[in-house]
Amino acid sequence: MAKAGTSYVCRECGGHTLKWQGQCPACGSWNALEAGAPAPKKRAGYAGEVKGQRLQDVDQADIERAPTGIREFDRVLGGGLVTGSVVLIGGDPGIGKSTLLLQAAGGQPADRSVMYVTGEESLQQIAMRARRLEIDASELTVMAETCVEHLLQALQTEKPDCVVIDSVQTMYSEDVTSAPGSVSQLRESASQLVRFAKTTGTTVLLVGHVTKEGNIAGPRVLEHMVDAVLYFESESDSRYRILRAIKNRFGAANELGIFAMTENGMREVKNPSAIFLSRHPEAVSGSVVTVSREGSRPLLIEVQALADQSGAGAARRLALGLDQNRLSMLLATLNRHAGVSAYEYDVFINVVGGVRISETSADLAALAATVSSLRDRPVPQTTVVFGEVGLAGEIRPVAFGEERLQEAAKRGFTHAVVPRANLPKKPMDGIQLVGVDYLRGALEALQLV
Ligand code: TYD
Ligand code: MG
Repeated sequence: MAKAGTSYVCRECGGHTLKWQGQCPACGSWNALEAGAPAPKKRAGYAGEVKGQRLQDVDQADIERAPTGIREFDRVLGGGLVTGSVVLIGGDPGIGKSTLLLQAAGGQPADRSVMYVTGEESLQQIAMRARRLEIDASELTVMAETCVEHLLQALQTEKPDCVVIDSVQTMYSEDVTSAPGSVSQLRESASQLVRFAKTTGTTVLLVGHVTKEGNIAGPRVLEHMVDAVLYFESESDSRYRILRAIKNRFGAANELGIFAMTENGMREVKNPSAIFLSRHPEAVSGSVVTVSREGSRPLLIEVQALADQSGAGAARRLALGLDQNRLSMLLATLNRHAGVSAYEYDVFINVVGGVRISETSADLAALAATVSSLRDRPVPQTTVVFGEVGLAGEIRPVAFGEERLQEAAKRGFTHAVVPRANLPKKPMDGIQLVGVDYLRGALEALQLV
């Protein structure tokens, strides 16, 4: 029998129950309940006066931003670090989170004091890394601490302008009994840090590891609490690292920052379009270049497809960098509206460079690459293709068509097959444009059917 006042707390979600059970009634995890703190008391109603304020009477202070010294990072942040904001930076272990943040900690203007809090590495390791990265460490303080209450006490006296927490999973609060890294610890530590940021105006950068198993124990549970969420999305065996803003209260979502991991740390990539194209000496079948617009700039990206005779059983569809369900849908459209069947073929799609395309403008390129591979007919290397493919086989326009075409022309592409509604009013210099309305017409323009 549980004593009055005690309860069981779920290690995974932090939910309370009064009686021990094999499965947590809140999140469904098995064997996760442990005897813990008494259930939280119900808060009494607030007796004071509560009053709203007219929106137009609210003081609007301009948002202050401090540069990090790394332009690509500033771009993803929406123009720099905002005073009092909390930014979560997530990614697989080893992708470069600590490296980038140490550089960002050292690159801020000299009048800003920055504290780097580590729960993972020793101070010696950080000092060694800082020396290797040639970071100006004169205004940088470091601290090895994992208890969030102790940390906040130190921060109250040090009063830094910016603090980096590497990583939020190593932090624990004395108020919560479960192990560091559990969801309830993660939430409690993060909420204390968020409150600290909001009350003092300190910018807080939280590092979060994304676990391979998925999202629940990872930093995703913090997404709603913070102002901006940035994730590294490239494979860690590639030299390039792509940082994407999934959410940003102070800037554009989906903004991309592109870095190369070098022996001297993260370097910004000056000409990002070039890294998403593989350099074939001549045109090969199954490869089509599209112009994507992730965030605020157009990028040339190569989409590759391989259609291979399928063995027994259902044909496989695999997409890396594109949505898998969308690929199945596109292949069905290809069959019904362009008369090209891929049912007896395994279809693999890969987006070069490890970038994930989140917009629909790559639909047409994915299908063109598939047909090119099916028919073994290359699309010329100087041709770009973009457009959304609808379920009726229509080619729908995408946003910022003209800007995409300009980027393609600037990079030396001479032909473009695009939605008719995206054709600019005047012809463009150096690039021949073909507007298409339907999938079949698009494949004809590319001489694939
Ligand atoms: P790190 O920033 O520690 O990753 P995370 O904090 O995301 O786990 O980076 C780890 C990898 O980066 C490691 O394999 C070594 C490599 N690296 C370089 O290639 N160059 C460098 O200058 C640094 C500091 C790290
Ligand atoms: Mg690290």
